Amino acid sequence: MRKRPIVSAAAGALALLLSVPASAAPAGPGAAGIGDPYYPNAGNGGYDVSHYDIRLKYQPTTDELEGTTTILATATQDLTRFNLDFVLDVKEVLVNGRAAAFAGTGEHELVITPARVITKGSPITVVVRYADRPGEVERGGQSAWLRTPDGGVAANEPESAAWWYPSNDHPTDKATFDVSVQVPDGTQVISNGTSTQSSRAGWTRYTYRQSKPQATYLATLAIGRFDIRTDTTPGGLPVITAYSTDLGDNAGAARASVERTGELVDWLSGYFGAYPFGTVGGYVPNVPTGYALETQGQIFYSPAQFARGTNTSVVVHELAHQWYGDSVSVQRWSEIWLNEGFARYSQWLWSEHENEGTAQELADYVYNLYPADHAFWTVKPGDPGADQQFAGAVYDRGAVAVQALRNAVGEDAFFRILKGWPTERRYGNATIRDFQAYAERISGKPLSELMNTWLFTAAKPAAGSAGVVASSPAKSSPAPTATAVVPSEPRSWKKIQETNTVHDHKD
Ligand code: TRP
Ligand code: ZN
Repeated sequence: MRKRPIVSAAAGALALLLSVPASAAPAGPGAAGIGDPYYPNAGNGGYDVSHYDIRLKYQPTTDELEGTTTILATATQDLTRFNLDFVLDVKEVLVNGRAAAFAGTGEHELVITPARVITKGSPITVVVRYADRPGEVERGGQSAWLRTPDGGVAANEPESAAWWYPSNDHPTDKATFDVSVQVPDGTQVISNGTSTQSSRAGWTRYTYRQSKPQATYLATLAIGRFDIRTDTTPGGLPVITAYSTDLGDNAGAARASVERTGELVDWLSGYFGAYPFGTVGGYVPNVPTGYALETQGQIFYSPAQFARGTNTSVVVHELAHQWYGDSVSVQRWSEIWLNEGFARYSQWLWSEHENEGTAQELADYVYNLYPADHAFWTVKPGDPGADQQFAGAVYDRGAVAVQALRNAVGEDAFFRILKGWPTERRYGNATIRDFQAYAERISGKPLSELMNTWLFTAAKPAAGSAGVVASSPAKSSPAPTATAVVPSEPRSWKKIQETNTVHDHKD
């Protein structure tokens, strides 16, 4: 379901002019990566997926996962072979009904050579049969499968799919999903979208459907003992929440936070427009991690995020991603500010709403918290590098950039941009420069300088840049002496940073 290639339109047109007619082009292998500079092996070339059908069986006591994934795709070139991104042990591959040769590369690439050359534009059906213990599989010291005492969970960014299903693992190739998992009676399964279940001979099958386009890393799978609740918002949107039955002391705070999902999604719709998916929800498995992930319509939270009491701020952050990240996704991973800058900013709007500090106060606080020689300012939120993709600065400096935009274009244009952008780009992919062009069109103001200063410069912006103040306690009372007075900490600050502690494993 790729909407457009990563190369620019101009470069694409040029390539088209220079290339020989498709019919005469020799068939070749699909590229091992989709062309993302941060992750050269992420995704693959040569085809475009429209649907995943994932059919699994899982035994929690042994971590044995087996099953079959069927992929519906279309060839975008003549193909002698192509890759899928996958790390589990494969038993058999069929392409268009015929057995195909396959080999793992030791990375996350599964190389598939079909019996016949596939011609550009033709449909491809790939069936992959596999069996493995995902908790035992590591690649480059990384794993996306978290074992729990009663099962397991797939969660990671930018890569988690390869630990439970083969895919074209890049946000530019979105698809619809059917996920069907058999587990022993008494164990529950969580995935994206609407679900049904049936039981037979000691095993229960859970079947989930995501009928809206979904990026591969936003597909989620959790297996374990969960208490699942279903409800609907006043507007009729189904809300599905689930809690491990083993959350201990964190159970109350987790529920008191995540049970506000319906109310908070309605509140955010006021800023971002209609909610883009058919269901909303969240689940809290019994994992030792400290982060959350914006898995589509069914958010992954960690119990540790509720260890210091309720945290509605993290729920707001992950719900904001449903518009900024999930519906409108990055065109390349370097565009991560489009996700994290806005998800963090939504927490600032929530702080404002809760009278715990305005967005301006939070922006001023961040500005003053880090001196000019602090490493914080060396991170360019607009192009942080793969190593720093989830650094605190992508979030906090990224949200200051949003506040700078608000000050530059004024309240009216700002809120029209905030709401209009997810509508304009719904279910698609975009770059920061696309966003800039949109904001310029809506506001009628040139924004290059502001964007370059706040997002693309590895230095602290000058005091006063776009209304973000340096060291004055309040606008009405200028500092009496030359000595700078750092603004006091907004009441929401610590709670908001708790969302971020999460990223410490990467910072
Ligand atoms: N996108 C997640 C958030 O901001 C954070 C995140 C970054 C993450 N890397 C991750 C979560 C790896 C899980 C695993 O909410
Ligand atoms: Zn986030």
